[in-house]
Amino acid sequence: MSASTLPNATLTEAYRALTPGSAALAAKAKIAMPSGIAHDSRHFDPYPIYVQRALGPVKWDVDGNKYVDYFGGHGSLLLGHCHPTVMAAVHAALDKGTHFGACHELEVRWAELIMQMVPSAERVRFTSSGTEATLMALRLARAYTGRPKLVRFRGHFHGWHDHMTNGYSNHFDGSATSGVLPGVADNVLLCDPNDVAGITRIFNEHKDIAALILEPTGANFGKMPILPSFLTLLRDLTKQAGALLIFDEVVTGFRVSPGGVQAAVGITPDMTTLAKIVSGGMPGGAVVGRKDIMDWLDFAAAKAAGTEKVAHLGTFNANPISAAAGIATLEIVKSTDACARANAFGAEIRTRLNEVLIEEKMKWAAHGSNSGFHIFTNPEGDNVVPGAFDAAAFIPKMLNKPRGEGVTALLRMGMLVNGVDMNSGPSAWISAMHGEEEMTTTVEALRATVRALKREGVVS
Ligand SMILES: Cc1ncc(COP(=O)(O)O)c(C=O)c1O
Repeated sequence: MSASTLPNATLTEAYRALTPGSAALAAKAKIAMPSGIAHDSRHFDPYPIYVQRALGPVKWDVDGNKYVDYFGGHGSLLLGHCHPTVMAAVHAALDKGTHFGACHELEVRWAELIMQMVPSAERVRFTSSGTEATLMALRLARAYTGRPKLVRFRGHFHGWHDHMTNGYSNHFDGSATSGVLPGVADNVLLCDPNDVAGITRIFNEHKDIAALILEPTGANFGKMPILPSFLTLLRDLTKQAGALLIFDEVVTGFRVSPGGVQAAVGITPDMTTLAKIVSGGMPGGAVVGRKDIMDWLDFAAAKAAGTEKVAHLGTFNANPISAAAGIATLEIVKSTDACARANAFGAEIRTRLNEVLIEEKMKWAAHGSNSGFHIFTNPEGDNVVPGAFDAAAFIPKMLNKPRGEGVTALLRMGMLVNGVDMNSGPSAWISAMHGEEEMTTTVEALRATVRALKREGVVS
């Protein structure tokens, strides 16, 4: 069965008809796990798809439906699913043992590669996730500066630990989110992206700022873009204030360019957080940065300085399987045009999706940068012209809209029914393996979805 065999069905009816196996698994999952899921972004009404296998740029669900995959392991699979070199490295590592409870050769090679590729990486400390990387970066910043406060931007995501929750998708006033101590939120200063007066005021009024962290292409991989001039201002302001600038390159690292955003734009932060591509689609992350900051993790350096070392443990830090996948991936990223290919696909597909929107007379826009795209569904009916959309000007409207609800949820469902899996943005992470076939499927999926939404009276 496919969407074309269900011409009169609504999107929801078609989705249910195509995915009975996923429905059955979701019913069981709801009894075992809150909402039946393991990650909030997988929450989807009436139920999410359950995936069985994946290869290159595509994946198949338990009902045999094939999808062009723009979830890409939450952005970790720049080389697509099951890249043969990465898989061979993982299998070889598995055969030698999953955990040695000891230092091993691969972690050294892995750290060396990161230092060669990422301009700010004078030293590397591995973690088990991006969340742990941003947690450690903040702790190091506080230890190094002796100051308490962290500056963040509304809408930017840095993982789910206590200092990173308010201002991402709610609590834009800076108050503490459910389960977080008010005292923690009090030490986080929120600013609007690209707000020159706002960020200048924050640095003028607060002399106790340890660090500023941001997604350097803007929230959610450029969905809410950061202007290049603003990035330069942040480098200057943090330097003048003696605060540390942290680039959260968990998504953009080894993706925007082999050296991340910092190499692409020539601005070197004091610290960088990495995850996803760094460990080649396996669990892992790293915080990297200036030696004098990273020395707070170094036993001998802390002793020599007479300071209390910052503690850091973690059972799976630099585990050999992630190290093997990470090395194989980074070597390919370093020596091929993988980033450039994914970026070129991004530019081309944004153009072609906008052509569909123009043809269908929709005031929506496909936008984004590098190897990503996002679809703005214009909830307030503004005068949006596809292909000439200034996303930065619409950040306030994007911030206050709940993700994955209403039209965007139906859009996502329509794309699924037509063989394309995007995240709830709705946004896409593109791999270097996406090609013309995936491009055509995606463009036609958008056209079919828009037409279905018109038929259902959801959009006009
Ligand atoms: C920019 C950014 N920072 C941090 C994180 C957290 O990484 P993890 O999910 O590995 O904890 C993410 C996850 O998507 C992210 O996109």
